[in-house]
Amino acid sequence: MSCSIGLAVSVLLSLAVASAANFNTDTNITWGDGRGKILENGELLTLTLDKWSGAGFESKDEYLFGKIDMKIKLVPGNSAGLVTTYYLRSHGATWDEIDFEFLGNLTGDPITIHTNIYCGGKGDREQQFHLWFDPSKDFHLYTILWNPHRISFLVDSTVIREFPNMESIGVPFPTKQPMRMYSSLWNADDWATRGGRVKTDYSHAPFTAAYRGYKADACVWANGKSSCSGDSTKPNSWMTKNSTSPANRGSKRSRRST
Ligand SMILES: *[C@@H]1O[C@H](CO)[C@@H](O)[C@H](O)[C@H]1NC(C)=O
Ligand SMILES: *[C@@H]1O[C@H](CO)[C@@H](O)[C@H](O)[C@H]1NC(C)=O
Ligand SMILES: *[C@@H]1O[C@H](CO)[C@@H](O)[C@H](O)[C@H]1NC(C)=O
Repeated sequence: MSCSIGLAVSVLLSLAVASAANFNTDTNITWGDGRGKILENGELLTLTLDKWSGAGFESKDEYLFGKIDMKIKLVPGNSAGLVTTYYLRSHGATWDEIDFEFLGNLTGDPITIHTNIYCGGKGDREQQFHLWFDPSKDFHLYTILWNPHRISFLVDSTVIREFPNMESIGVPFPTKQPMRMYSSLWNADDWATRGGRVKTDYSHAPFTAAYRGYKADACVWANGKSSCSGDSTKPNSWMTKNSTSPANRGSKRSRRST
């Protein structure tokens, strides 16, 4: 009896996994000369950094609106000087961009989440947060929800930041340029930790960040067309989401600039 229940559960789990993206088929490792690796039949991706290089990968698809999930386990231990990025970005000199960046720290000191939004090549919409858990101990879910009404940053399904569309009062908001998902692990010890005062300690190298659970519930943009157009009978719940209250439950804002 307990055996057949176990079997039923494992069938459900494998269905859920099958609906998620696969790193082998859905992403390209773009730099790092072998420091980016896809493992476990595309379920796990790791990026490493050593004295010579970091590494990065990107989605094959481009999206014009979506709910993009990624589970990340950040570099454990002394990660001072290192930045792990996970962001959406469009092409060209007047690009749009929606950023999660994780700024490393000394063992025991908090890793900072740095968020930013660029529109037409202009950023300066930064907000930083400290988490309510150690993001290097296990995988946690980081979500970018981007629709015509708002951009939300979520950690384990809790909204930590919302950026509503206020174009009506002249605040630029990205709605026209399709974006690709990018992620990287790189050395930024000239600014990342305590404003650049703590440097990367390569005696702990190689450093590794790990990724699972990439899922793009999104409108794929290809050949000038969105996969969502004409699908108005079945609107996506993330597409119409226009909540009003940023729920800062559980998050502790460490610094807010502009
Ligand atoms: C990903 O890599 C494949 C094979 O190397 C290449 O054909 C494809 O153009 C790449 N896709 C992107 C979006 O760069
Ligand atoms: C690193 O830890 C120090 C000490 O707790 C803290 O002040 C700082 O905000 C942390 N993060 C960064 C990115 O420096
Ligand atoms: C979304 O909500 C805001 C208030 O937060 C409201 O001003 C705006 O009109 C709403 N947009 C749509 C398309 O419903």
